[in-house]
Amino acid sequence: MPDLQDSALFVQAAFIDGEWRNAASNRTIDVHDPATGRVIGTVPDCDAADTEAAIAAANAALPAWKKRTADERAVILERWHDLMLASTADLARIMTTEQGKPLAEAEAEIRYAASFVKWFANEGRRVSGHDIPAPTSDRRVLVSKEPVGVCAIITPWNFPAAMITRKIAPALAAGCTVVIKPSDLTPFSALALVVLAERAGVPAGVVNIVSGLPEAIGGALTASPVVRKLSFTGSTRVGSLLMRQSADTLKRLSLELGGNAPFIIFDDADIEAAVAGAMASKFRNAGQTCVCANRLLVQDGIHDRFVARLGEAVRALRMGDGRGAGVTIGPLINAAAAAKATAHVEDALARGALVMASAPGGDPHGNFVRPVLLTEATPDMRLASEETFGPVAPVFRFRDEAEAVALANATPFGLASYFYTNDLHRAWRVGEALEFGMVGLNTGSIAMEMAPFGGIKASGLGREGGREGIEEYLESKAFHWAGLKGFST
Ligand code: SIN
Repeated sequence: MPDLQDSALFVQAAFIDGEWRNAASNRTIDVHDPATGRVIGTVPDCDAADTEAAIAAANAALPAWKKRTADERAVILERWHDLMLASTADLARIMTTEQGKPLAEAEAEIRYAASFVKWFANEGRRVSGHDIPAPTSDRRVLVSKEPVGVCAIITPWNFPAAMITRKIAPALAAGCTVVIKPSDLTPFSALALVVLAERAGVPAGVVNIVSGLPEAIGGALTASPVVRKLSFTGSTRVGSLLMRQSADTLKRLSLELGGNAPFIIFDDADIEAAVAGAMASKFRNAGQTCVCANRLLVQDGIHDRFVARLGEAVRALRMGDGRGAGVTIGPLINAAAAAKATAHVEDALARGALVMASAPGGDPHGNFVRPVLLTEATPDMRLASEETFGPVAPVFRFRDEAEAVALANATPFGLASYFYTNDLHRAWRVGEALEFGMVGLNTGSIAMEMAPFGGIKASGLGREGGREGIEEYLESKAFHWAGLKGFST
């Protein structure tokens, strides 16, 4: 691990009931730097027994944590937020080393991650129930909000910090306790955040983290009747597996799954804004986000001008080790990710796509995939129906609004969508016609703490962020008082 100002942030242990521990088996797994392939360190390979110990700790800590006032919990969360921001440089270095994204993006992710902590500290203060006009005058019906209980949090490697805080900040603010299973590819960012949570005063057992491989830990989390809720971000395949595994214990579920985002540019769009938005949406994190523009749909009249300007922007990208000065595109997470993105390009070229532009630089090697802009993309290509999760921007042409909407919606996924137009009437029509959980009009950026994030169809269930985010961790209890004396019936 690189030089850190605060070396205690780099931990190679699990955290259960307030103690940093090895796996009971003493087994470990290696974690690699995706830019160099070198081993950065090891983490415990926790199994079902370790996970059950973490669940028991979370369950034991629940009564005291939920009894605290919302403000007491919020004060701890606010301290955690401040500690995260104070450690931004170290947390970003840890992230870039294990995940690959450029340092500037890693720093931006730490600020993004911290924003959820602050947001949900305040949302926790605003949780409230309501009373309902009763059927008779001697009755009262009150609805109160209670924490769901022990929550399992399973997070991906593409946003190793923000996906942790987007889930556990609302859980803690609501009065729940958690067991986190971070991706085995990027556990160190999550572990560093837990170090800071402990320093912020989160009591023992409230936050537990078990590192290791998905099968054993996921199996124990889903099988446990103590775990009342599971929140997962990752692939649709794994999301539906976790849903099946959670069926016997009937857990609440939040599933933020795959996407296949259309990014539509109409003839009347502001071309510079559309290019900036497409670059931000497509190439953030080297194209490894669920909300990345997967398909650029461009109307005939603006097509050639848009493609020429986007090509210039793609040629200005700099691929390299995320720690390098001026680097804007890091490696993909592993060889399988690089192979998939490369296969999508090869398949598209074999079916008639053309390379319009690619980023300069040395030969891509290892997990690096050169950013590329393809034109003449068609619906029969793999990249039209599968999520590429890499720096590949395919442009599909369309003639009119009806065709654009039909192409955009022709996917089983329904996470993010984007469109650019300056026509007020079209803005409403298209915004309402797009079958996605999130729609960006004249912007490529839709992820922020104050707005609900999530999808429909094969993109999952539930919402994170916004007012909605904390509701996922709350139950409504209806309290019926009957037979009150002194009221006429
Ligand atoms: C994701 O890719 O799952 C999250 C993207 C984001 O929060 O912007």
